[in-house]
Amino acid sequence: MSLAIVILAAGKGTRMKSKTPKVLHKLAGRELLGHVLAEASTLNPEKLVVVYSHDEVKSYVESNFPSATCVLQSEQLGTGHAAMMAKEPLADFKGDVMILMGDVPLMDAELMERFYESHRTQENITTFISVFMEDPTGLGRVVRDQEDNLQAIVEHKDATADQLKIDEINSGIYLAAKEPLFEMLSNLSSSNAQGEYYITDIVEMTIKNGQNAGTFTFEEPEALGGINSRMQLAYAEDYYQNRKREHFMMSGVTMVDPQSVYFSYDTEIDEDVELGPNVRFGTGVKLGRGTIVEGNLFVENAIAEQSVRINAFCHIKGAHFHENSEVGPFARLREGSVLEEKSVVGNFVEMKQSTIGSKSKCKHFSYIGNMKTGQKVNIGAGTITANYDGKNKYETVVEDRVFVGAGTTLVPPLTIEAGATTAANSFVNRDVPKSTLVMSKQNRVENADYVRPSKES
Ligand code: UD1
Ligand code: CA
Repeated sequence: MSLAIVILAAGKGTRMKSKTPKVLHKLAGRELLGHVLAEASTLNPEKLVVVYSHDEVKSYVESNFPSATCVLQSEQLGTGHAAMMAKEPLADFKGDVMILMGDVPLMDAELMERFYESHRTQENITTFISVFMEDPTGLGRVVRDQEDNLQAIVEHKDATADQLKIDEINSGIYLAAKEPLFEMLSNLSSSNAQGEYYITDIVEMTIKNGQNAGTFTFEEPEALGGINSRMQLAYAEDYYQNRKREHFMMSGVTMVDPQSVYFSYDTEIDEDVELGPNVRFGTGVKLGRGTIVEGNLFVENAIAEQSVRINAFCHIKGAHFHENSEVGPFARLREGSVLEEKSVVGNFVEMKQSTIGSKSKCKHFSYIGNMKTGQKVNIGAGTITANYDGKNKYETVVEDRVFVGAGTTLVPPLTIEAGATTAANSFVNRDVPKSTLVMSKQNRVENADYVRPSKES
């Protein structure tokens, strides 16, 4: 039996109060719709269709999930009308159609599979996921007769006082056989409290047609939480982060204060990594085995090989740490920062597009831009690369075993050859030959009659 998946993502999202379409708001660094598309893709559906209304949503899908087909819903006439838009993209498809919501981002592929399995074993025409909720306000109620037979889904705004007391609700996720689905959708009416075409009506229609409709009840309502407001977005983020925290602890990561660590959807961490408090992962981070993160860190687009040490209070965006390298405390690494094996970048160092070679050190107060060092180089405190002339940036090459004295100003393009030394406070704007010492002329001036300004006089 084949499967097609349709994701409804054309809603206005008014309650978010935002210029950004609701489904492009982010959860753990990824768009809500991206979570749904990524999980749905792992089921390998024959067709994956996104119903959209905002052009930004279409471009997002086309650039991130090129195998999906986008179809426009030009007027938001309701969820049933939205689902109807998939009729044409699915014209040649035969099988079951799973309908997901772009604003229900926490449902994972495993749950989708279990749902599909249940739909097939129940031999239903229509199945939907229901959950029990303490506070079902605003949601569609699952109406059953005295024998507990499913009858219909009734929207909050259309429900009677008795129906409002029902705590079994519709999570908004459906599976239906394609032909009857589109037949029913084309017969929907909008005579209800909201004047919309409700997809939920297919449940009652299936039953009235004398066919099987059923529910798949899931015990964890949080996993099916829909996002309509920024509060619900924050609750979903919290739920997602807790799942990630548990996942990493189960797979061998120590966290002294898990609640203060925030992961990105794509964070990868090996066994025996230790994470201190207040760590926030942006996208694209991989931490290798034995890496130690002291705490108070923001890190994005960074790879740490094994046994890297990241001391507290660093800001890292775009770095590659090789084995046993060390950074911080208080370092700022920008894009293109590479720390080779056993190198050290210390406190108050800013680095960009630069490589610190193996066993080399740059331990205090420096700006290192467009520099490449060899091995066992020492860069003294306060060394600055003056690498930018207002238009272009130039490279500084520092070969093996060079010693750059404290306070050196390096004005590239420039090569300091192997074994050379620059004295403290040197101004270096020309190449330095191998094993040479360079020193800038620095005259000492003495004024014996000098009186320092003082508050007392
Ligand atoms: C819907 C269900 C409700 C269920 C709830 C669960 C209906 C009528 N109601 O209500 O029973 O309990 O989900 O979260 O279906 N959309 C479109 N085009 C439209 C309207 C909506 O694409 O014209 C999309 C939205 O982008 C969203 C989804 O459909 O992803 C759900 O729409 P929304 O308005 O949020 O429905 P709910 O009021 O949450
Ligand atoms: Ca919703």
